[in-house]
Amino acid sequence: MMARYGILTSGGDCPGLNAVIRGTVLQGTSVHGQEFVGFLDGYKGLVYGDIKLLTRSAVRGISRHGGTILGTSRFGPYQKPDGGPDAIKKVLEELEVDGVVAIGGDGTMAAANRLFGDGIPMVGVPKTIDNDLQATDFTFGFSTAVEIATEAADRLRTTGDSHMRCMVLEVMGRHAGWIAIYAGIAAGAHVTLIPEAPETLDQICEWVTAVKDRRRAPLVIVAEGFKLPEMAEAHSDRGMDEFNRPRLGGIGDILAPLIEERTGIITRATTLGYIQRGGVPTAYDRVLGTRFGQAISDVLADGDWGKMVALRGTEIVRVPFSDAVGHTKNVPINFYNGARALFG
Ligand code: F6P
Repeated sequence: MMARYGILTSGGDCPGLNAVIRGTVLQGTSVHGQEFVGFLDGYKGLVYGDIKLLTRSAVRGISRHGGTILGTSRFGPYQKPDGGPDAIKKVLEELEVDGVVAIGGDGTMAAANRLFGDGIPMVGVPKTIDNDLQATDFTFGFSTAVEIATEAADRLRTTGDSHMRCMVLEVMGRHAGWIAIYAGIAAGAHVTLIPEAPETLDQICEWVTAVKDRRRAPLVIVAEGFKLPEMAEAHSDRGMDEFNRPRLGGIGDILAPLIEERTGIITRATTLGYIQRGGVPTAYDRVLGTRFGQAISDVLADGDWGKMVALRGTEIVRVPFSDAVGHTKNVPINFYNGARALFG
């Protein structure tokens, strides 16, 4: 009998997820003779046995589409009343599924690791626009988010220049400043603020004033996780997400009036939000997603359970879940300082 595997996408969606699904199914069916089903809406589908068949024709042409054809959620596989390893083992047995590919970020990989510890054959593919997973040099989705943030910054520049206003752009990234620093460098922002490097309001206003004095319109990019030195936590007034983490966002709207008050330059804030996660993936994200998908099908063929694929340099490698979970990859301070040398 053909080996049959399940694929799920969990956590926030991310451009490139469909490329992973396609890469896994095409490699698996043509190289290893594997069969696939997709669990719908993340771990929820795994707990309730909600599936769709993933044939070659079901995945044809999907790499260029954003989102995920399987749906996603932040539903935890241990969630009461129906979750837990016994229920999941029963579902896998009934559906004759020999192992599961979990595509997701830190929370998804932590859950996959726990399931693996409880005897469920799990492998993983790392995903996040935030690029903050330690085990891999890059995650797919990041390149798309950076392109969108850069384009937004370029657009803000033209309207800022026309009105001689300071424009503040808030981007995502949780507690890592990767999207902000890449977009900041690409767009030539005059100030980029990231969680890894608190800056005082005095310093920020000094940079903004220097730009204004040159009769230019200042552009400030701020990561949602950035904190002024007097803030204990990153700004969050939107409650908690389903993984019980504070929902970040809103720092741009806090900074803009402070900058305006101190510098006297009219300042407007824009929060880019979910636009960064939606839409067509860049070619880079499609390629990385496809390579991850093909590599995970090889991992399945080897029965190398408890492993996640990762990018190291230009190579795709396998790492244990335990290496990948709970270690945030932050922007190194010398990387930030390189960009900082050009601020103002
Ligand atoms: O982790 C990806 C991410 O888009 C973060 O950048 C952002 O803080 C968060 O997800 C938003 O998540 P949600 O979909 O729960 O609002």
